Amino acid sequence: MADIDTLLKEKRTFKPAPEFTKQANWNKRTTSEHRKLGEKNPTKFWAKMAKENVSWFTPWKKDLEWKPPFAKWFVGGKTNVSYNCLDRHLDPKTSPGGVSRKNKAAIIWEGEPGDTRVITYGQLHREVCQFANVLKEQGVKRGDRVCLYMPMIPELAVAMLACTRIGAAHSIVFGGFSADALRDRINDAEAKLVVTSDGGYRKGAPFALKATVDKAVAQTPCVEKVIVVERTKQPVEIVAGRDLWYHELMALASTKCAPAKLDAENPLFILYTSGTTGSPKGILHTTGGYLTHVTTTFKAIFDIKDDDVYWCTADIGWITGHSYVVYGPLANGATTVMYEGTPTHPGPDRWWDLIEKWGVTIFYTAPTAIRTFIRLGDEHPKAHDLSSLRLLGSVGEPINPEAWMWYHRVIGNKKCPIVDTWWQTETGGIMISSIPGAVDTKPGSATKPFPGVHADIFDEEGNSQKGEAGGFLVLKHPWPGMLRGIWGDPKRFKETYWGTYDETYFAGDGAHRDKSGYYWIMGRVDDVMNVSGHRIGTMEVESALVSSPDVAEAAVVGRPDDITGTAIVAFVSPIGGTDANDALVDRLKQHVSKEIGAIARPAEIRFTTALPKTRSGKIMRRLLRDIASGKEVAGDTSTLEDFSVLAKLRESDED
Ligand code: PRX
Repeated sequence: MADIDTLLKEKRTFKPAPEFTKQANWNKRTTSEHRKLGEKNPTKFWAKMAKENVSWFTPWKKDLEWKPPFAKWFVGGKTNVSYNCLDRHLDPKTSPGGVSRKNKAAIIWEGEPGDTRVITYGQLHREVCQFANVLKEQGVKRGDRVCLYMPMIPELAVAMLACTRIGAAHSIVFGGFSADALRDRINDAEAKLVVTSDGGYRKGAPFALKATVDKAVAQTPCVEKVIVVERTKQPVEIVAGRDLWYHELMALASTKCAPAKLDAENPLFILYTSGTTGSPKGILHTTGGYLTHVTTTFKAIFDIKDDDVYWCTADIGWITGHSYVVYGPLANGATTVMYEGTPTHPGPDRWWDLIEKWGVTIFYTAPTAIRTFIRLGDEHPKAHDLSSLRLLGSVGEPINPEAWMWYHRVIGNKKCPIVDTWWQTETGGIMISSIPGAVDTKPGSATKPFPGVHADIFDEEGNSQKGEAGGFLVLKHPWPGMLRGIWGDPKRFKETYWGTYDETYFAGDGAHRDKSGYYWIMGRVDDVMNVSGHRIGTMEVESALVSSPDVAEAAVVGRPDDITGTAIVAFVSPIGGTDANDALVDRLKQHVSKEIGAIARPAEIRFTTALPKTRSGKIMRRLLRDIASGKEVAGDTSTLEDFSVLAKLRESDED
């Protein structure tokens, strides 16, 4: 509760500037109308948004079919995501706003070495059609799954849109995941085809991806073909009959491919995310509802206009990249910036340089990045002209008021509204956020639920809390972007999200609602850690650790960290006879990197003779968290520790 207490002492309020409100897509009046309808009849509100913001080939018959916890939105409607993101913008008769965007930049891309590509809507449309034809030629059909394991290059967006064009579902695996993690995700989704690249650039050097795919695909019988984009030109092994070069296939492919008329509930993508158990969950999103949700929230919350240059720094491998680098922006005909590499390469000002260079007007990033830049010093952003910026966004973890104020002052020059957006892989799109021309902001609060979103605070027994209250953040009415299930596991879907409360989605977060109805997100209340805005399950890291021959038992907890929000601390009891020393620490860190990926690498490993347990055999996680964060002194940390004494003192407390 300590964090939330400090947040709640926050008294500053920032009103939207009248000049901003005057030009806003959603102003106070329209927002309040939307809120009223959303409150009274959320289904009707979303249906209105689906009509206004999405183009349909066939209108739907029923707004929502809700058989808890299974929802179908816009039943019977037919549409296509790539049509909405591309084709409709090419012709003033079909484009939102009635203008042709054929020669407008859809993607401004910059590679880490400084190479650039600007791709217009017309060009992107052609490339997507070509790649859709390539996929078809390689045997990909409607309903199949295609795994994308790629760096941040335009071909990733092309591949996503090409899948949506023919009705195949993509499953993007973040390029930082290991071969084992990739293999498990490919097998779980039974992907038929993998699109990858030779590699990409990070921290000034090329890294390899194809080699990782080779390792993974050796154990994925479902994969028939691997298509490889040439990015770094590093040597790769090409397996005859399986591996094909992207550029060779594209050179032969037709630029014409009609978008498939897909059912609103046609699977759009699967994205794996961490939960409280060891194996990642394949979160399933579908077509019409997801598109409605991301298109509407993007237009309202990012206040997009035709002359904006919008940049979301997230990697497309995460949900933020899916919804707000690719689909939301392109469906609105916006110019979206993609940057391939490390924020601080070649210097600590690379991001600010990019904003100045491309004239970015809307910038969306994560608190962990903001805190990193605070530490690097104000001189770097100050060395650049950031005056093009007019709106800032934050996502992925709670933003502490100091970081919020720095963002406001140093990056936004005190004139840009900040939208702090709360949502999840499972929600598909933003659920709680300020509307920049309509809602006053308070540093550290995501403000109010988006119209049509019925958020609430429940206590442990499932009682809705009235007015000012703290507790579990829940969603009480289905929303169009909601996950439709966990791939291949309806039972886990029910238990994980709908098992705590009746017909109510429990998000896994704790929150506080203040007197004015503002939500202050406290972070995860389950065994999921939020490291640099990425979810990692404690169990996932624990199972990686115990799979090492050196480890008898392991328990993983998060400890607060100034930069990353949470740092991973592992308590490990080595197998009898194994020496607990620095070499073992390195070995275990490397082992976790190999099993999951570098993002899950523990910041700290501490050895113990045995893990402290309650009489009933439960690991005393609270005690371990206190030890990890230094609240409880446990003595020498360099050799084997014995927590049994502390455990005894605490036992009655934890059982
Ligand atoms: O704990 C919340 C935190 O990130 C979790 C969702 O993680 P993921 O599915 O990876 O999606 C991240 C990007 C949408 C949430 O359960 N979170 C996300 N946004 C915020 C946040 N916590 C506080 N404030 C936010 N704005």
